[in-house]
Amino acid sequence: MNVPIDLGFTAKDIAMAVQRRDVIIVIDVLRCCSTIVTALVNAARGVIPTKTLKEARELHKKHPEFILAGERRGIKPKGFDLGNSPLDFSPQKIGGKNIILTTTNGTRAIVSCKNARYVFTGAFLNAEAVSKTALKIAKREGTGITLISAGTDGQFSLEDFICAGAIVESFPSDCIENSDVVLAASLTFRRARRSLNMVIQSGYHARYLISHGFEEVVKFCSQLNLYDLSPTMKSVDGLPTIINRLVEV
Ligand code: MLT
Repeated sequence: MNVPIDLGFTAKDIAMAVQRRDVIIVIDVLRCCSTIVTALVNAARGVIPTKTLKEARELHKKHPEFILAGERRGIKPKGFDLGNSPLDFSPQKIGGKNIILTTTNGTRAIVSCKNARYVFTGAFLNAEAVSKTALKIAKREGTGITLISAGTDGQFSLEDFICAGAIVESFPSDCIENSDVVLAASLTFRRARRSLNMVIQSGYHARYLISHGFEEVVKFCSQLNLYDLSPTMKSVDGLPTIINRLVEV
C-alpha cells in the first residue's frame, strides 16, 4: 500500500493525525524547528519544548543546570539565557546541555503532538533527512505521514508551506499518495526553489524578523539540506524531549 501523505495546520489536524497513528513531522522554519535541529547538530543533549513561559520558568527552577531559551514576539524573554535564533546555539554555549525551549507557535505545536507515536521536527535545514526517516518508519509501521505547519499566530505561513513541499520532494513518487494540499505545497516548492531565500524573505514572519534585525537568521534558515539529522520527541526522565534520533538508536 502507498503511504498517504497529508498536511495540516490546526489543532484538529493534529488530533486526527494522532488518532490515525500517523508519523508526524512538525514544521516551523522561522525559527523553532531550525533552532532545534541546529542545537542538536551542535551537540545539545536534548530540547524540552514547553507551551508557556510559566512552564518553562518552573522547569528551569527545578533544573537550573538546563539552558532556558525561547521567544515571545520574536524577542528573548526577560531572564532567559538564549532567544530563538539558531545562530546563537553554538557548541560552546549548548554542547552537552539540555535546553528548555518555549516559542510562540513551534513548541506549542510540538507539545500538542506528544501523544503521537512518532514525532519529528522539520525545517529546510534538514528537509531530506527528516523525510527519509519518516518514510522509513511509516512503511515499517504501515501508517501515513502528516506534516503539520506550526504557522504564525494561527495564520497560514508561507515558509512552512514551501518547506512541506521540500520535505515531500524527497519521497519517491511510486510509494506515496499525496493529498491535494501536499501537491500544492510540492508545486510551490518547485517554483520557489531557485530563489528560496528571496521567496521566504517576502513572507509575513520573515519581514517581521528582518525588521527586528534578524536578516542573517532568515537567510540561515533558508538553506536546504544543510544537516543530516531527524530530531525526534521521546520521553527522557519523564520529560518530553527532542533528541537526535541517531543517539537514541
Ligand atoms: C514560533 O515558534 O512562533 C517561532 O519560532 C517564532 C520566532 O522565534 O521567530
